[in-house]
Amino acid sequence: MTQKLWQIEEFPFHPERLNHYETLFTIGNGYLATRGSFEEAYKGGISTTMVHGIFDHAEGALVPELVNAPNWLPINITIDGTPFQLINQNDSTLKPKNGAVVGYRRILMLDKGILRREVLFRAESGSIVRLVFERFASLHDEHLMVQRLEITAVDGNPQIEIKSSIDSDVSNVGIKHWGDIQAEAGSSYTSVSAKTIQSGYGIAMASTLRATSNKANVEFTTRNGQPSANTHFQLQQEDSIEFLKLTSVYTSRDGDNPLQSAVAKLGEAASATYESLVTPHINEWATYWKTSDVQIEGDEGSQLAVRFTQYHILIAAPRHDDDVSIGAKTLSGTGYKGHVFWDTELFILPPLSLGQPKLARNLLMYRYHRLAGARNKAKANGYEGAMYPWESTDTGEETTPSWGDPQPDGSRIRIWTGDSEQHISTDIAYGILQYWRYSGDNNFLQQYGAEIVLDTAVFWGSRVEWKNERYELSQQIGPDEYHENIDNSVFTNRMTVWHLEQALALLEWLKTNAPADAERLTTQLDLTPKRLDHWRDVIAKMYIPFDEDKQIHVQFPGFFDLEYIPVPHYEPRTMSVQAILGHHRSIQTQVIKQADVVMMTALLGDELASKDVLMNNWNTYYPRTDHGSSLSPAIHAWVAARLGLDDLAYYLFEHAAEIDLKDNKGNVKDGIHGAASGGLWQALVFGFCGLHITPDGNVAVAPRLPKHWKQVSFTIYFKGKEQEFTITNTP
Ligand code: BGC
Repeated sequence: MTQKLWQIEEFPFHPERLNHYETLFTIGNGYLATRGSFEEAYKGGISTTMVHGIFDHAEGALVPELVNAPNWLPINITIDGTPFQLINQNDSTLKPKNGAVVGYRRILMLDKGILRREVLFRAESGSIVRLVFERFASLHDEHLMVQRLEITAVDGNPQIEIKSSIDSDVSNVGIKHWGDIQAEAGSSYTSVSAKTIQSGYGIAMASTLRATSNKANVEFTTRNGQPSANTHFQLQQEDSIEFLKLTSVYTSRDGDNPLQSAVAKLGEAASATYESLVTPHINEWATYWKTSDVQIEGDEGSQLAVRFTQYHILIAAPRHDDDVSIGAKTLSGTGYKGHVFWDTELFILPPLSLGQPKLARNLLMYRYHRLAGARNKAKANGYEGAMYPWESTDTGEETTPSWGDPQPDGSRIRIWTGDSEQHISTDIAYGILQYWRYSGDNNFLQQYGAEIVLDTAVFWGSRVEWKNERYELSQQIGPDEYHENIDNSVFTNRMTVWHLEQALALLEWLKTNAPADAERLTTQLDLTPKRLDHWRDVIAKMYIPFDEDKQIHVQFPGFFDLEYIPVPHYEPRTMSVQAILGHHRSIQTQVIKQADVVMMTALLGDELASKDVLMNNWNTYYPRTDHGSSLSPAIHAWVAARLGLDDLAYYLFEHAAEIDLKDNKGNVKDGIHGAASGGLWQALVFGFCGLHITPDGNVAVAPRLPKHWKQVSFTIYFKGKEQEFTITNTP
């Protein structure tokens, strides 16, 4: 195993990429995640810790958001009176004040979930120290965050001061969510507790700092209302000292007294060593990787990118909580306010359904617990059944903002997705059935999943409109969000047919395999013979826009009457064609934001149409797509691979692999693109490897690996058992 294929490295220091690297170097454990901000804070840094489930709706804000928790990282160091800094806060030359950084390297160890930074720093006095920082959010004990600091006097005998604290003066890009803040210093720890202002969630953190030898005493005091752990000592040349900072975190979602729990947790860890904490953490990571790694031989860049993206999904996936889900930007930034979209079920979930079924089940249970919100939404809109919100938070109510941020001229654009992007209900059903087929988790299906699949089918049955002697769906937004409130989005109409077919088949399955559940759900959801006949009628008579002459699916009627813009002519561009043309113009054109008909091809494969039609669809829609959404390239790579467009598939795969690592669009500061991460895995496993379930219920591959790859191997869970695949490329 080559170690560098498990490492993201920053060498040397890139101050201009501060925010980009903060996102890339996020650590987490499914309970919380913390961006790769430094222990000593910098202006312009976006230091963020997100704890799952803690949402708050600030006064005056359109929607609630996931809250930035107090910052547990701060460790400030002074060497012979010179503050250790990488960047001078008041000087644009980016040289630290009075000191100099003479060596720097940072690595994220993807296999171990540890972030490590090594710095050589020369103080004004001339003393040179080596500082090694390591941090991890324990995967073994999700309430425990660990930092290790090793200081070595490389030259001179420096006097060193250290101040460690928890910073509760935090915000979400300026919006404050914490009230009732109490900060204290005990005899061996400092603590902070606070409550979110509107929603009333409590949080508590307790933190301790100790030297692992008796070379330094640590005192816990409160100065100017700020509790901190402080120490000062002298190091002799070539001598080293090591500190351990442990921080425990609890919220009111974990129990009634988060502060008591946080303090107790520190007590439990009182005699722990770094080794004793890191070993079980690393072991848990090794267990994750057994069924989450995909080994690619012959392409180091792709190998690293796939591991990097899987790492980010794993640190965001709740392990012990089935009442939270993963937002579009995972837990690694404030983008999309921590809201949960279709990104979760159709993009992020599949690698978990196949690699970590327990984690996948947690995510799906989040939707089960929010059936009430989905039913409310259906009712409020005059429909039956369950209609899931396009954007979801803790409450399960629709939380899509109705208006965008102000444009340069002060105007705001109406956001229609919360009203019209209704395919989310089917996307959730798709995620459930895919999870079930791979995991064989009948218990989940019978107890929870079936209710979602069936009640969302009830919604569609009530949603369809009988018009022009056929069923239609008006006022939709398909995956291509550039075209809003259109009638008969082919994606939505076709996926609705698929959904109703699946619902009928599921009911039959339940009648045979779990008759009591079939009966219970039939009564509870009012699945009368009349309703089921109606579903059959919709399946038979739904309008699927199709051009018989051209043998293509039509994204929506009228699409080809819009102005044609050859998207390839806009290369090399650094922004979406929509951004170039502007919102109002691009609506009038055939420019597509992301895989739409192509998305339907990825989901339904050969079931959708003949190979000829699928190829015609590709040739029609690919040149019109500007990939304005990061969700798009990986899905295109997947479909291109299945269509045998090998070179194009690899080109698109590389594009998807670079989204976060290269930050081509400059928005990675807002967080990891979770869906693109899950999409990359699907392009690899479903696209290049062609993993599928055969008609007789087994799992098989149908590989089309990029020509220069030597071998791909991975292990998944299939019906509860590990199944290994090794695909060797035959030249
Ligand atoms: C995409 C959606 C996606 C959302 C969150 C939008 O730009 O068009 O498909 O769900 O971002 O990632």
